[in-house]
Amino acid sequence: MTNAQQPAHPPQGPPPGPPARPWDRGGAGAPGLTPGSAPRPSALAQAQPGSQAPPLGRAPGSAPLPLRPPLGPVVLDLQDAVRTYPGDPPVEALRGVNLRVRAGELVAIVGPSGSGKSTLLHVLGTLDKPTSGIVRVAGFDIGTLGDQDLSGLRSQHVGFIFQQFYLIEGMSALDNIANGLLYRGVGPAQRRQRAGEALERVDLSHRADHRPSKLSGGERQRVAIARAIVGRPSVVLADEPTGNLDSKTGRVILDLLDELNRRDGTTIVVITHDHQVAARMPRRLEILDGRIVRDSLAVAA
Ligand SMILES: Nc1ncnc2c1ncn2[C@@H]1O[C@H](COP(=O)(O)OP(=O)(O)O)[C@@H](O)[C@H]1O
Ligand SMILES: [Mg+2]
Repeated sequence: MTNAQQPAHPPQGPPPGPPARPWDRGGAGAPGLTPGSAPRPSALAQAQPGSQAPPLGRAPGSAPLPLRPPLGPVVLDLQDAVRTYPGDPPVEALRGVNLRVRAGELVAIVGPSGSGKSTLLHVLGTLDKPTSGIVRVAGFDIGTLGDQDLSGLRSQHVGFIFQQFYLIEGMSALDNIANGLLYRGVGPAQRRQRAGEALERVDLSHRADHRPSKLSGGERQRVAIARAIVGRPSVVLADEPTGNLDSKTGRVILDLLDELNRRDGTTIVVITHDHQVAARMPRRLEILDGRIVRDSLAVAA
């Protein structure tokens, strides 16, 4: 790490001093994102009135879900993000996207195939850099970070869920999840303990020792969700997590993401084909030809 990789000042106040690693939670550039500062269930009582969406796919008469968490600081911030893939002609996958997502939001992204949804998610999650424009994750301007700091930032602040699950076949469900903490300086015993807690969170404790091939598609995606949340990231990004599932199982997965947002305050951005589900999310973005053409909520101003 060099000084050149220190993050620029974030939008929320000055940094308290030089951190050991710039992407550490609570270090410079991440005020308000120290562990435990994200909205938690205890804060739900203060949730804003009117923020409750109808429950997703629940049986009539089942207990109502908690209110959405109150919103926290901006965790994702794109300014004029452009992503052009080289070629003849070049592909303008993102054509100047401005977007702010605050801690505690649940955002659905819809749009036709090829409209730039995955590119947007990859740029938000620092898997890809924009050709021009600014990307801030948890207050850090990723343009100022080198590769090592970027992967550190990612491992601390971003959890990914993909359509293809990407579980390691030679490993149990529990170890797949524990793997999500490999680069977090957590010892093996604690990795397994936290993996067990995450597995419980997705209601799959009884599958801890199963290999991915012994799990159904829906169970695999639940393991992948547990892996994404085990490090308690600032934000979870899901790219068509239901794309390989039948529609009923897909709804169960989207319900689970909804509950994670409501109960744990997890910030989630999810790309989905399911317009019915998206319509019930607190915030919907519509992407067309590399641009956000509709944003149902102006709350993250
Ligand atoms: N690695 C790449 N190289 C070249 N073009 C790409 C690459 N990835 C995506 N594209 C193109 O960028 C556009 C947006 O793609 P993508 O973000 O995957 O859209 P979506 O997820 O909405 O289907 C499409 O035209 C696609 O063909
Ligand atoms: Mg895609």
